[in-house]
Amino acid sequence: MKEHNKTLGEFIIENQAAFKYSSGELSRIINSIRLAAKVVSYKVSKAGLVDIIGAAGAQNIQGEDQQKLDVYANEVFIQTLINREIVCGIASEENDEFITVEGSDKSHNNKYVVLIDPLDGSSNIDVNVSVGTIFSVFRRITPIGTPVTLEDFLQPGINQVAAGYVIYGTSTMLVYTTGCGVNGFTLNPAIGTFYLSHPNMQFPKDGNIYSTNEGNYAYFPQGVKDYIKYCQVEEDERPYTSRYIGSLVADIHRNMIKGGVYIYSTITTAPKGKLRLLYECNPIAFIAEQAGGKASDSFNRIMEIIPTELHERAPFFCGSYNMVEKVEDFMLKAKLSKY
Ligand code: AHG
Ligand code: MN
Ligand code: MN
Repeated sequence: MKEHNKTLGEFIIENQAAFKYSSGELSRIINSIRLAAKVVSYKVSKAGLVDIIGAAGAQNIQGEDQQKLDVYANEVFIQTLINREIVCGIASEENDEFITVEGSDKSHNNKYVVLIDPLDGSSNIDVNVSVGTIFSVFRRITPIGTPVTLEDFLQPGINQVAAGYVIYGTSTMLVYTTGCGVNGFTLNPAIGTFYLSHPNMQFPKDGNIYSTNEGNYAYFPQGVKDYIKYCQVEEDERPYTSRYIGSLVADIHRNMIKGGVYIYSTITTAPKGKLRLLYECNPIAFIAEQAGGKASDSFNRIMEIIPTELHERAPFFCGSYNMVEKVEDFMLKAKLSKY
């Protein structure tokens, strides 16, 4: 069978032995995410239609279909992981507190926690633009058999054993890493099967795309302003272009394929940045590094930050290695020139 015909299910089985922990639990977590992704993908593809159906059947007051998609996606991912009894805890961007998961026998014998942004880019749902799901998996720190605690979730990104994203775009793709490179699988919706379509994904070392919300320009730190001006200077040698979707997953996915840098820096109105360290920055940073890219908070490696709270935010500079280094140079220069 040709490499690109391999299904995600086959890939997981073949690679289980290469996983750091090969008890099969991690494979089962990826399998659950695969299932939940298919359910959410189906729902996302009907996003506009649901309202039409709802309006036609006025007496339908169950509310299920009217549920906002980010709440729906949150429930699907959490319930799928809980039902399969494969994790000991879940933290979600949508929930204030982490969830302790116990087995049907009330045990706490599973060893992994999952952190999730169930629907990333949710402001794009209503306008038919790509959204995503981001996930991150850690081995618990507390002893197996006891309920999870906050410290199981507040681990630096370098401890991740797996991370990935689903992009619900023109096609639905699941892209993930277990620390041995990055592989992308495309869903054939007709038969509900993911196929390995993008083996060993790599960020080009350089690129010509910068992705940031330039509406925030006036609030950017000087280093980001300087970098943007550097990209905009008219020179044949420097053909930069700007692309910004406003769904982190979609912006990163495009940049990984084409070469580019994603920037969500601190802004004066959001002094810690906007993106969430645990649900967005860490998993995307793991993917980026595994694909030969780089992820920084301006001055430090994202994955070395020790989190202090679940919903902590961080400035995020991520993408093609040389481009992230270049922005870091501008940030440093601007910082030094202040003194
Ligand atoms: P979420 O929908 O999970 O809250 O995430 C939105 C994030 C991210 O996906 C995106 O890159 C960024 O917010 C966009 O922010 P701006 O609208 O401020 O540009
Ligand atoms: Mn998000
Ligand atoms: Mn979200």
